[in-house]
This record gives sequence, structure tokens and C-alpha cells, in this order.
Amino acid sequence: MDALKALVVDDEKDFRESMAMLVKREGFAVEEADSLAHARARLKEGPVDMVLVDLGLPDGDGLELVRDEEYAGAAFVVITGNASVDSAVSALREGAADYLTKPVDRTRLTSVLAHVSRQRALHAEVSNLRGELRALGRFGALIGRSAPMQHVYDLIARVAPTQASVFVTGESGTGKELVAETVHAMSKRRDGPFVAVNCGAISPTLIESELFGHERGSFTGADRRRRGYFEQAGGGTLLLDEITEMPIELQVKLLRVLETGSVTRVGSTDTLPVDVRVIAASNRDPQKAVPEGILREDLLYRLCVFPIHLPPLRERGDDIEVLAQHFLALVNRKENSAKRWDAAALAQLREYEWPGNVRELRNAVERAAILADSVIRAEDLPPGPRASCAPGAAAQARSDEEGGAVLRVEVGEPIAEAERRLILATLEQLDGDKKRAAELLGISLKTLYNRLAVYAAAQSGKP
Ligand SMILES: Nc1ncnc2c1ncn2[C@@H]1O[C@H](COP(=O)(O)OP(=O)(O)OP(=O)(O)O)[C@@H](O)[C@H]1O
Ligand SMILES: [Mg+2]
Repeated sequence: MDALKALVVDDEKDFRESMAMLVKREGFAVEEADSLAHARARLKEGPVDMVLVDLGLPDGDGLELVRDEEYAGAAFVVITGNASVDSAVSALREGAADYLTKPVDRTRLTSVLAHVSRQRALHAEVSNLRGELRALGRFGALIGRSAPMQHVYDLIARVAPTQASVFVTGESGTGKELVAETVHAMSKRRDGPFVAVNCGAISPTLIESELFGHERGSFTGADRRRRGYFEQAGGGTLLLDEITEMPIELQVKLLRVLETGSVTRVGSTDTLPVDVRVIAASNRDPQKAVPEGILREDLLYRLCVFPIHLPPLRERGDDIEVLAQHFLALVNRKENSAKRWDAAALAQLREYEWPGNVRELRNAVERAAILADSVIRAEDLPPGPRASCAPGAAAQARSDEEGGAVLRVEVGEPIAEAERRLILATLEQLDGDKKRAAELLGISLKTLYNRLAVYAAAQSGKP
């Protein structure tokens, strides 16, 4: 770091020069001024970190500088010649960081300067995190600078250092998992593990042993002892994603784990203490999930100590473009390419509704970047965003005359891919109701779970 800049303002030449020398020895870059007018002139030229100013100057009172809003960026240390505590106190009241009395005591000077330096360093660090990075649209791994995302950043910054359990809600693909990771990364547990479990992708019969572990021989197929996710996340953070998909009987057991801070493996009677911070996530409104009978009220209150709601992408304004540029930059880095957006394509992106939120945008960018040569044009975009500017096109893409949802399958599209899209679209249409989705699709619930597990595994295998 560059040396902090100090300005010594005093009309007594000998005193000023010896002060300047002492301050310099403490590691500051020092300049001098012999009057208020000179000090003002210097302060107008550029920022100064600390001003040591005598209260009695020939052309006025040093307090005038302290009071001046224009110089609020500097820390002021006032120097009083007459050991008058009154004037020192009023200077502090006006906003001075500290005061010194003449003759200046070396030890006192050193401690005042150290205090000011520490404060400046802290100030710089905090404003870096809060201001500059955020102005650039970054918060940990999260990208975006829209007002609703700034609010999310505030919430994360507030809750991360605490032990409170967090409930993250938001539509599919809005970044719930990324928020959970950011809470973990900004907490004291950051050196511990972060484990994410998708409760909707584990079959209901296995979920208890997956979460809490099992002893060897506790059920058919349990040929060895297994540590559950709670144990694996010890000392760290456990994300319970799609918490409303957890069978209601198991929610009782989960609540007990959270309340006692210990787990019992399936097939065992011993309890093991676990030190885990739990973050829950869901794309449903948890308050509505309670009357629907898919989330226990007592569990909700235990988990929802600190709720964080992620806004859908369509409510984040310019973030769509910021994210599109970000994802393209990632592709460019990976492929060692230099592709860029055409203005019309960016306009299409802004127009589109993004029902699949950031995940859909990311996929659209990656796909378009593969199709485009050096400039990504509107026609390189996937059908959804590509159609977004044509009047009524989006509506048509989504529903037929009867109002039922329609999925477009391209000729030659691999069957497995068409099946995947059909399953996911059906689930989305039914708000994640797997039982009903399986009925409509004409497959067993077990098959549905198996498919979802495969999709989840394929997705988490991606970089
Ligand atoms: N603000 C963001 N900045 C950068 N990348 C983001 C942001 N939000 C989401 N992403 C990316 O979008 C994708 C989806 O995010 P994530 O998995 O966290 O969403 P989700 O809300 O958990 O989705 P689901 O409800 O489907 O589980 C990921 O690739 C993630 O890295
Ligand atoms: Mg998720």
C-alpha cells in the first residue's frame, strides 16, 4: 500500500518542521502549510488522508477545515497551543478524529497516528467490499448490480458471520445455491466443507440414510457403514435444497437433529454430535407449503430464522446484460476466443422473460457462443429469447389455443434430450409436484426420481 498522505498546518515554522519530521518517521508522506488559505489550496488539489491542524492560525480557526464538508474525506487531528480541553472537545464534536496539545508528546503522537492509520485501513477495506466491488456488480461469486441484488448482498453480509439458519427462496435458476455458497464463503466456517443435497433428487426411501448415515446391515443393500451428509458437512455448511420434497415423517427427524445438534444413523441407537450450519432452499413459497401439507410448520420456523428471497432475473434490469457479458467472458476464456455481442442480440436478451432465470441465460449464452463466429447475433440465440421481440411470439411459444403448455421438439433431437426436457417442463408446469407429473407422463414415481437423479448428477458434473 502507498504511504498515507499527511498535511501539517501550523504557522510556527520550527514547530511545523519538527512535527513534519516526526510524522514522516511514522511512515506518512508529509506536506506542510502555514495558513488556512494554503491548507485549503492543497486540499483542493487532491485527497489527503490526515490533516494535523493548529487551532489558532493567523488567518482563522483550524476548526473551519474540520467543519468543511468538502474535506470530509480526510481525518483531522487538531493541535491546541494552550492546553485548552474545551477547544479540543469541541473539535472532536465537530468531527475531528483526535487532538494533540503543545508541546507534543512523542508517545501520544505515535498512538494517535497509529489509530488514524488503522481506521483508514479498515475504512478502505470496508468501502472496497461494500462500494467498489459492488459498483462493478460483484459480490463473491454473485454477479449483478441491480437494486434488488444489492439488497440480497446486504442480507448475505449481515447473516453470514452469524450462526443463524438461512432459508433461500426464489424461482428455479435464480441462484439459490450460489447464495448458499456465498453465505458459507463469508462465514467463519469457510474452511470447512460445503455440502449441497437436493432433497428432490433422492428417492424417499433412501433420504434418511443419505442424510443421517447408516450402520452396516441396517437394510438390504447397506453392505457397509455410511456417513450421512450431516456428518460430511461437519464444521461446515449443509444446503438442503428443495426442502419441501422431503417426506413429512423425515421432517420430524430433521427438526430433532436441528434442535439437539446430533444425528442418529439408521440402524443405530447412538447419537453423534454434529456441528453444521443448515441452509434450506426452495423454489416454492414456504409459507404456502405449510397449509399445503408439504412442510411442517415447526420445521419452517426453525429453518426460516433468516429468509433471503432472490428476485427473478426479469426484475433485475441491466443485470441481464451484465450477466450475459460475464458468461460470454467465461466462454471466451475457456475457448481462448474473443466473441462479442451484437447490440440487437443484447436487446433481445433484455426483452425476454427468462422463465428459467440465470440458468437459462447461461445456457443460452453458451449455446449462442458456439453457434456464432465472432459476433453473436439475434439469430444465434435459442428460440425463446430469439422470438422475444416479435409481438405475441413469446406467448405463442408457451401455450396453444387451449392454454396448455407446449414444448417444441426439433426433428432429429436425441430422444433422451427430448425426454429430459419433457420431464422438466412437466414438473415446472406442475410446480414441482412429482406424483402428479409421474401420473401425467405415464411413468412410475420411482422412474421419475431416477431420471431426476441422473439429470442432477449430469448437472453437478459440469464445471
Ligand atoms: N448472480 C449470479 N451470478 C453469476 N452466476 C449466477 C448467478 N445466479 C445464478 N448463477 C448461475 O446460474 C446457474 C443456476 O444457479 P443456481 O444453481 O444457484 O440456481 P438455483 O436457484 O439453485 O436453481 P434451482 O431452483 O433449479 O435449484 C448456476 O450456473 C449459477 O452459477
Ligand atoms: Mg438449486
